[in-house]
Amino acid sequence: MVRGRYALVVALPKGRHFADGYQALLGAGLPLPPIENGRALLHGREGGIALLELRNHDVPTYVDLGIADVGVVGKDVLLESGRDVYEPVDLGTGACRLSLIRHPEATGPIRRIATKYPRFTAQILRERGWAADIIELAGNVELAALTGLADAVVDVVQTGATLRAAGLVELEVLAHSTARFIVNRQALKLKRDLLRPLIERLRTGARPQG
Ligand code: PRP
Repeated sequence: MVRGRYALVVALPKGRHFADGYQALLGAGLPLPPIENGRALLHGREGGIALLELRNHDVPTYVDLGIADVGVVGKDVLLESGRDVYEPVDLGTGACRLSLIRHPEATGPIRRIATKYPRFTAQILRERGWAADIIELAGNVELAALTGLADAVVDVVQTGATLRAAGLVELEVLAHSTARFIVNRQALKLKRDLLRPLIERLRTGARPQG
């Protein structure tokens, strides 16, 4: 159990937002524990700051349910999660987009869309009045477009290297994403003296006084 054992529990996602998120919080004066053991998933000493290393889609869950007080996660994952967390700061790092992607030779109607973002994709379909089945996949979504599992995919594009390597085409950008600092709503009240100044420093990029 971590609840009550640490002054603050921070959730960071492995992958594209980890290093920038860690640096942003450290730069804002939060004394994060060092990542000493590469295999450990929970860092920090009792009474201090705990750091949880999570899969990116799990960060909003840990923060919303109050296991972590705060976290850093991409807006793409936040949109997908539907979790009701407080999102006070756009850190601006890790810019990427959620796009509709196809094989260049696929020209028929889009009847099946594969994605790691089924809720987001369903929302887009509703907004546009498009009818298509959504196939939820866990990763390597480009393969669905390459193999014909789906007529198109909705996935993250950052540099575009994965798309180019697979010979796929970005048809449309559906949403833009950057890293967000998120806060559990109850923790915001209970740990206000710690969190309000931290949010302010993250917003202004200022370091703590003294
Ligand atoms: C995303 C996406 C692509 C890749 C795109 O995966 O699924 O594979 O990044 O990036 P690029 O445009 O720079 O090539 P991600 O690394 O986010 O994996 P995960 O979400 O499955 O952990």
